[in-house]
Amino acid sequence: MKRVWLEDIAKHEGKEIKLVGWVFNKRSSGKIKFLLVRDGSGVVQCILSKFDVSEEIFNKYQDVSIECSVEIIGVPRKEERSLSGYELDIKDFNVIGKSEEYPIGKKEHGVDFLLNNRHLWLRSTKQRAILKIRHEVIRAARDFFNNLGFINVDAPIFTPNACEGTTTLFEVDYFDNKAFLSQSGQLYNEAAVMAHGKVYCFGPVFRAEKSKTRRHLTEFWQIEPEIAYINIDENMQLQEDMTLFILKRVLENREQELKVLERDIDFLKAIKGPFPRVKYDDAVKILKDLGEEVEWGDDFGAPQETKLTEQYKTPIFLHRFPAKIKPFYMQRDPEDERLSLGVDMLAPEGYGEIIGGGQRMEDPIALREKIKEEGLSEDDFKWFLDLREYGTVPHGGFGLGIERCVAWITGTQHIRECIPFPRTIYRLEP
Ligand code: 4AD
Ligand code: MG
Repeated sequence: MKRVWLEDIAKHEGKEIKLVGWVFNKRSSGKIKFLLVRDGSGVVQCILSKFDVSEEIFNKYQDVSIECSVEIIGVPRKEERSLSGYELDIKDFNVIGKSEEYPIGKKEHGVDFLLNNRHLWLRSTKQRAILKIRHEVIRAARDFFNNLGFINVDAPIFTPNACEGTTTLFEVDYFDNKAFLSQSGQLYNEAAVMAHGKVYCFGPVFRAEKSKTRRHLTEFWQIEPEIAYINIDENMQLQEDMTLFILKRVLENREQELKVLERDIDFLKAIKGPFPRVKYDDAVKILKDLGEEVEWGDDFGAPQETKLTEQYKTPIFLHRFPAKIKPFYMQRDPEDERLSLGVDMLAPEGYGEIIGGGQRMEDPIALREKIKEEGLSEDDFKWFLDLREYGTVPHGGFGLGIERCVAWITGTQHIRECIPFPRTIYRLEP
């Protein structure tokens, strides 16, 4: 008999099917036993009744324990009161893989214990909901760019140079040389965009973040689009359109998971464009008025981002930062040389920066100077300078941090639950 996925159970009402999965919970009331079974695509309550099966089959219940795997032959029956709308009457079943003393129970566990058992914790209801939404976010982001005709050109992970500053580089031996793990695909996107006009890359990036915060991982995923002949206003519009597209998809397809996570769904549903576009200069004034100790030239930390975003009910753009606090590749603001044309998106409700991006420096002479000024090696960046020597154009793009976005949409306080196996300064396992 072919297995039936629980997501398709409605098509099999009243007919005998085979279900394979794991026992999520069990409960006994004498002559009737209840097994809550999960197969990844859904959860269903299965009924084992002494009146329906032989004694031999009924006694197999003794082998059932939390998270053991089972194969069940049974008949789905409509049951309005159950979450899936169905229950399954068991005709026969077998335990496939035992699970004795499953370590994760209903009681509260400390987060270290859960993270040490991440390989098992993934099976829990909330964790499954978060990773399903993560999948939805990634799928939506890729669909968004694919629908607009962007070409996916992926960037290398082993790189010879720094993109986002030299302080967070991971160095690895590369035969007789050294290499760095990529911090961002952007520089390679800038080459690809001169070939294809609009491109994106998607992949893991690495940063040796020494700070232990709830927003920082050492390995995280970014989707990074890059567009030729775009300006900073069009860049913001694209970020906004993408964010609304992702939100819409999650609300359409993953409302159930948002409910499991007790997310304020109405707050997400009410989010509409245009998102406020706040200049850095004005943000400093707003923060000062709110009593924050901040000076022009400071890079905002999490507390300031939270203070600022609390003033709004949608994400906001922060743009035109002091050039000193942004990377070497940023185009200067022609109206104020002290500023660079960077633009970040900050999520509301205290989640902070989820997107970083901006306009790239077009001019080969200015870029060469900037590379020197930053103490970077001109040799390493020769290829990058070539992009300005051969047909340079105005261009820009951005990077969405997938886990930051998922943390916000799911309402997860700590980013470590928004990636299957988190890597932080103190955690490399499992
Ligand atoms: O702001 P960042 O550093 O921008 C870049 O990497 C650009 N080169 C992207 C581009 O223009 N193509 O990083 C982009 C986003 C941040 O807004 C944040 O969401 C996320 O990546 N991010 C992190 N997420 C988790 N852990 C960290 N340590 C992160 N650092 C950045
Ligand atoms: Mg940033």
